[in-house]
Amino acid sequence: MAEERIVAGTLHGDQEFEAGLRPRRLAEYIGQEALKTRIAIFIQAALARNDVLDHVLLYGPPGLGKTTMAHVIAHELGTPIRFTSGPAIERPGDLASILTNLGDREVLFIDEIHRLNRQVEEVLYPAMEDFALDLVLGKGPSARSLRLDLPRFTLIGATTRIGLLTAPLRDRFGVIAHLDYYTPAELARVVLRSAAILGTPISPEAAQEIARRSRGTPRVANRLLRRVRDFAQVAGEGVLDLETVRRGLELLEVDGQGLDLTDRRLLEHLARRWGGGPVGLESLAAAIGEEADTVADVYEPYLLQQGFLQRTPRGRMLTPRAYAHLGLVPPPGLLPGEGEPRA
Ligand code: ADE
Repeated sequence: MAEERIVAGTLHGDQEFEAGLRPRRLAEYIGQEALKTRIAIFIQAALARNDVLDHVLLYGPPGLGKTTMAHVIAHELGTPIRFTSGPAIERPGDLASILTNLGDREVLFIDEIHRLNRQVEEVLYPAMEDFALDLVLGKGPSARSLRLDLPRFTLIGATTRIGLLTAPLRDRFGVIAHLDYYTPAELARVVLRSAAILGTPISPEAAQEIARRSRGTPRVANRLLRRVRDFAQVAGEGVLDLETVRRGLELLEVDGQGLDLTDRRLLEHLARRWGGGPVGLESLAAAIGEEADTVADVYEPYLLQQGFLQRTPRGRMLTPRAYAHLGLVPPPGLLPGEGEPRA
């Protein structure tokens, strides 16, 4: 796709930029208040007992700070963190080598943990439960199994799709936490904090404007901040006031609800091609040239949460709110009031 992806972009510069803005302590982490309170207690208890923190599973839409939270937890525990991801661990031996190389009480972070394959997952069960590695030596009737002790460690798993985790894996996490979309007020604090780190002057109204259009997602807020900062540097004095931010966001084609081009294309296809639906995820994704998983993980959750889209047993449907937003007339029979944003 030619247009820039505000939501799911993987630009290298953006990632570095993100990393530089990441909070390192729980006290600096904005939002997710309930999760922070719980995690702080578990960390304090583990440290007081001189024990390892129980395994933690973080789930929720992309960009809400799962990786950041894993960093923060490790930092608060005072331990190093090792990073890997479900698809990167191809064979049981790969995982065995990661596990045997961990130090005592270290954190192992597995991103996209729902994408681990079965054989690898089976190595993980005894590792999580008993800090043990079960090796099978030889083949056939003479095969023997050998149990090796592993260092005690904390696994932090992250996933956008908790429904795809097997029950045995899910059950081995002591802490299972959902990350929610951020409120505009929380995002405005994220933007102000990031702007301060970048040394970019910004007015409170301008920060609120970016926050309002960031789909409840700090990663998007930080990306929009960076883009409008570029815009301000070239078009103005480098100061981010409300007017400059508005003009910058217009240029980026991020609308007043924070929807980007892909969001709007998705809604418009549903309206024009399928009369508002219902339509299956695969057909919808194909129509806009995206992977079904990307649509389900990245685009849909916010559109659903904001009441632009409904999931029905027969497929995805547009709501009156989406028609109003697109400036289109809803088909007769679509009741006003459906598709109000969920509280
Ligand atoms: N930057 C990105 N996410 C953040 C958060 N939750 N708190 C503070 N800064 C952030």
